[in-house]
Amino acid sequence: MAQAINIQLHTQIKKHQVSRYLYSHFAEHLGRCIYGGIWVGPGSKIETIDGIRKDAADALKKLKLPALRWPGGCFADNYHWMDGIGPREKRPKRINLWWKQAESNQFGTDEFMRFCQLIETEPYICLNIGSGTVEEARSWVEYCNCDQSTTLAEMRRENGHAEPYDVQFWGIGNENWGCGGQMRPEYYADLYRRFSTFVRKTAGDRAKLIACGSHPGIDNWDEKFLAAMKGAYALVDYLALHFYSGQGSSDIHFSDDEYYGLLEAVDGMDQYLGRAIALARAFSTPEHKIGIILDEWGTWFKEATVSAGLYQQNTMRDALFTAASFHCFHNHGQGLFMTNMAQTVNVLQSLVLTKGSRSVLTPTYHIYDMFRSHRDGILISTDVASPPVKASRAGNRAALSVSATWQEKENLLFVSIINLDLEQDFSVNLKFGDNSNWQIRQIKQLAADDIRAHNSFEVPEKLVPVEIKATNANVAIPAMSVTTLRLQPGM
Ligand code: AHR
Repeated sequence: MAQAINIQLHTQIKKHQVSRYLYSHFAEHLGRCIYGGIWVGPGSKIETIDGIRKDAADALKKLKLPALRWPGGCFADNYHWMDGIGPREKRPKRINLWWKQAESNQFGTDEFMRFCQLIETEPYICLNIGSGTVEEARSWVEYCNCDQSTTLAEMRRENGHAEPYDVQFWGIGNENWGCGGQMRPEYYADLYRRFSTFVRKTAGDRAKLIACGSHPGIDNWDEKFLAAMKGAYALVDYLALHFYSGQGSSDIHFSDDEYYGLLEAVDGMDQYLGRAIALARAFSTPEHKIGIILDEWGTWFKEATVSAGLYQQNTMRDALFTAASFHCFHNHGQGLFMTNMAQTVNVLQSLVLTKGSRSVLTPTYHIYDMFRSHRDGILISTDVASPPVKASRAGNRAALSVSATWQEKENLLFVSIINLDLEQDFSVNLKFGDNSNWQIRQIKQLAADDIRAHNSFEVPEKLVPVEIKATNANVAIPAMSVTTLRLQPGM
């Protein structure tokens, strides 16, 4: 029989707003993410909207991703945006240095903006500062955002877009301590000052400028960069970190211990973010706050090699990892503004996988979908008397993780419950603070009988969320499951 557990929802204790941008994403010119996964071209036999795969666009539109980072990644500091505008048959073919493939430039700025419009997301462009010039970066901003009658704005109009794209998020380089130029933090800070001065002037005050931050192992980068920016902090709106997890493990052939090991990576990410948030706060002033973005994160398993285009499968383990990561992100409050998982289609921890004309939605996709109602909600204090997970490797980790948000407009209480244990089932009893009375309106659950279960092209719907029925007193929470509940005041 399933053990009964009480979950206390202290609806009267409201913490902070959960930024909707935590649910953003990332697509790079890498492997089959853009070419094959998003763009197949107008002449393709696969159904498209203006050359963009309809199946991928429809699936991603449903998620309403708040922002999408593009064109890289390492590709960004090797990308020259003018190669990707104007008539497609005239565009040059270049080498994609880091990912060892040819770049046809068929998918450029206007195609990306069309894609953003189709899936209803905000563009986040990462500029080339590793191999590009200040003027090249600045002029890209002018092409996108200028409403005057300049030559670049006219070019955009000729290319089919009369109105400015009004891009708000601009990244000043990517991993400039590595693929973006092997720079020292002080040198990057000097370049950052130059690039961001001209980008800010062109993009206007609404624009948010995002500096390249560290990845674990890149010692003291964040500290040294921020120290070297003295006197020019107004140019740094956000510092963007990267954090990948799961290296060394296989995508579908892994042990239970490796699954619990991946949960430890969530703890590591949590600490890494906490450290960076405190640091950014120390360099903030009442007039100008510096926020943290995590603009690359997710699982990276050993199958995702450069020759495989960083392609990997995605199991129930990825779903639990994603849900646990979102719970961790929610707790970081206003200091953490955005996260962008890597990457949307066919690369690393994808939302959608494609093979020819077929596509499947991954378990990770379903977590993004199930958690949508957390966005912009106010985090509510919760208590759960959870037993630890049974496996010895997992130490004292609680089996159950809970996050609850309140949406004022709809007076909706939205609760997600993760059961991280591979064996124990629970029966949850919801209790509310302040004697308030909330009634369950809908429950969705994603569960598996094997942590290695995944959606394949042969069995695309092995893992899909289902609606279940329950009262406040007995919500069945099976082992390795993610459950979301919508509650509204009862009569
Ligand atoms: O997401 C794949 C790669 O990982 C990105 O291009 C790079 O920024 C990171 O190292």
